[in-house]
Amino acid sequence: MKEQLKLLRESSLSAIAEAQTGEELEALRIKYLGKKGELTAILKQMGKLSAEERPVMGQLANEVRNALEASLEERKSAVSALMLEKRLADEAIDVTIPGKKQEMGHRHPMYTALDEIKEIFIGMGFTILDGPEVELAELNFDRLNAEEGHPSRDWSDTFYFDEDSRVMLRSQTSPMQVRAMDTMELPIRIIAPGRVYRKDEVDATHSPMFHQIEGMAIDKGITMADLKGTLNTVVEQLYGKGTKTRFRPHHFPFTEPSCEMDVQCHKCGGVGCPTCKGEGWIELLGAGMIHPRVLEMAGIDPNVYSGWAFGIGLERTAMRRFKIADLRLIFENDVRFLEQF
Ligand code: DAH
Repeated sequence: MKEQLKLLRESSLSAIAEAQTGEELEALRIKYLGKKGELTAILKQMGKLSAEERPVMGQLANEVRNALEASLEERKSAVSALMLEKRLADEAIDVTIPGKKQEMGHRHPMYTALDEIKEIFIGMGFTILDGPEVELAELNFDRLNAEEGHPSRDWSDTFYFDEDSRVMLRSQTSPMQVRAMDTMELPIRIIAPGRVYRKDEVDATHSPMFHQIEGMAIDKGITMADLKGTLNTVVEQLYGKGTKTRFRPHHFPFTEPSCEMDVQCHKCGGVGCPTCKGEGWIELLGAGMIHPRVLEMAGIDPNVYSGWAFGIGLERTAMRRFKIADLRLIFENDVRFLEQF
């Protein structure tokens, strides 16, 4: 029995010293000191001992129990210190590791160009209007003085929704002139950017969907000089002070007189180069004085009020602004292209 106690003491102490967790220690405590534990099993044999041997063995057993308990206690605090250390190491944050770079997107170059133009007009007191892309032919054509039989009303040019050619995808932003006249108080100063649609084949300068900006001012005493002054201001802000413009006579059904405005080539300064096809000038927009009949149809007296209007292609403006050679690049949305701006 003495031998058994000695063996128990040795094996249990070494098992406790190797325990790594609180659970392992608890299992060892039960194994050695529990009701059905090994020490209890040995003590059960006490009855077989003689009266002299019994107290000696009892004392020895108590010593073993005390040693085991002390060792369990000691190992328990060592293990919990160990666990704490391990957790601290596991949860440590290395603030010196380089962060993950956040990829930032940016505006599409065409909208950058649009924002610049909007800013300029807002600075001059204009209101920005938004309007429907599905439009009535009445507003897109009739109210703009383009009567039945006008070539742009042809089915080969325009996307209609119905047999009677009454509902269509707007072919220009000009119907926004009519919508403004019908809903706003005079005087009116607006620009209206947005998508327009025409049955054009896709190539380097054409797309069945593109963007225009419509501009319009109506007030008492507005003249062609106001139109030229406003557009010259815009061009100087877009392309730099001293940039020259040129106005050529043209025809639009809703303006009289009508003109096209060219801007001096930004690339060669007007001498002639491949960008301006040797002309020295680049066509920028259509404009004119609002036709008296258009004012009348909107219930505005052309003897009291007058106004100017213009329409500019946004893609072409952006292409010039960012020196983009092919219109298709603007719509394809290839990130490798867009990243350059
Ligand atoms: N709507 C015309 C077009 O799409 C552009 C235009 C020309 C608009 C003259 C105007 C204007 O307001 O006065 O070709």
